[in-house]
Amino acid sequence: MTIRAAVLFRDHFGDPTGAVVARAPGRVNLIGEHTDYNDGFVLPTTIDRHVEVVVRRRSDRKVRIAAADLGEHRDLDLDQPIDYSNSGWLPYVMGVVHELVQRGRIHFGVEVVFRGTVPRGAGLSSSAALEVATALALDTVFNLWLNPIDMARLCRDVEHRYAGVRCGIMDQFASRLGRSDHALLIDCRNLDARHVPMPLDGHRFVIVDSGVRRELAESDYNQRRTECEEAVTFLHGMDASITSLRDLTPDTLARHKERLPPDLFARCRHVVSENHRVLEACERLANGDLPAFGRLMKASHLSLRNDFEVSHPALDRLVEEAHRVDGVLGSRLTGAGFGGCTVNLVAETSLSDFERQLEPLVDDWSARSIVVGTPEQARVTEVIT
Ligand code: GLA
Repeated sequence: MTIRAAVLFRDHFGDPTGAVVARAPGRVNLIGEHTDYNDGFVLPTTIDRHVEVVVRRRSDRKVRIAAADLGEHRDLDLDQPIDYSNSGWLPYVMGVVHELVQRGRIHFGVEVVFRGTVPRGAGLSSSAALEVATALALDTVFNLWLNPIDMARLCRDVEHRYAGVRCGIMDQFASRLGRSDHALLIDCRNLDARHVPMPLDGHRFVIVDSGVRRELAESDYNQRRTECEEAVTFLHGMDASITSLRDLTPDTLARHKERLPPDLFARCRHVVSENHRVLEACERLANGDLPAFGRLMKASHLSLRNDFEVSHPALDRLVEEAHRVDGVLGSRLTGAGFGGCTVNLVAETSLSDFERQLEPLVDDWSARSIVVGTPEQARVTEVIT
């Protein structure tokens, strides 16, 4: 970012004295898809793209927000109703403000300017980065002392209440708690997390953007979550110890197969098998067994395509073509699916072959320069004096 945050703020709202600058990274999920809202395991890591937010407190109850990259502005009032429907970035910024007001933590308005380098709508968590950066800046401006996990939870709730996406906690958690050069194993049942080293030994995770965009709220994402809940209700009726899909083992699932509707059975099979894959992948990664990690990525994609049905022909094509290249250990869709990106584990010596094979299939090839597992970490970078 070339223009300093203070200059950016001044351009929109005048004197920046007292403003707080915070930034939070996007993430890429290495493995563990659609498991977070089923109390399962995920393994995301941060990327070298982030959102930066500058916030200054006001003495009245007005909120003025500028989206610097888009040239858009909104002037709002904490005491007036706000329509969040079809409003782009508004829920992710104003939702965080609003939620903190509702919880009695904030009583004054703010001025906010934000900008970012996370591609939007590509499944790399630009919205989580915006929420987390906003929450971090507000935390300092109003001395809230939110602990990092509570902050991730708050941002997840914002997504549910203001953006209408009933997501899990992975994206906000990864953006807030991700650490450089490590993946983050999160147990989404109790929110225990472990930073897992990534000895990549001559390999790289490469992101490829399919260019297919589908808004999460408009997609089948919420539908998939509802299906998982239906399956739990069904299974709980037969076995009261099952309170989420996390409680299912391959054996218990096999036992109930005949009684579950086939599509719900397939959804369950994905979640059960994906949870196993995440735990195994973690061990393999820590031990440097990259070929085994790659095989798990491949299996994850097939399960997302066949059992969870969240892939897209463009993503399947990218994965298929990637696997044709010697030196590609694994390839899979990352994030919610229905479009967005693939993540690929590629030997550095095969990068040019990989590019040659994949480049003709995508319009915008720039995602491949995204660095995965970087020094980028959520933090307050400056208090302007
Ligand atoms: C989106 C959601 C996450 C998670 C993934 C799928 O990124 O925000 O909570 O469910 O999809 O793994």
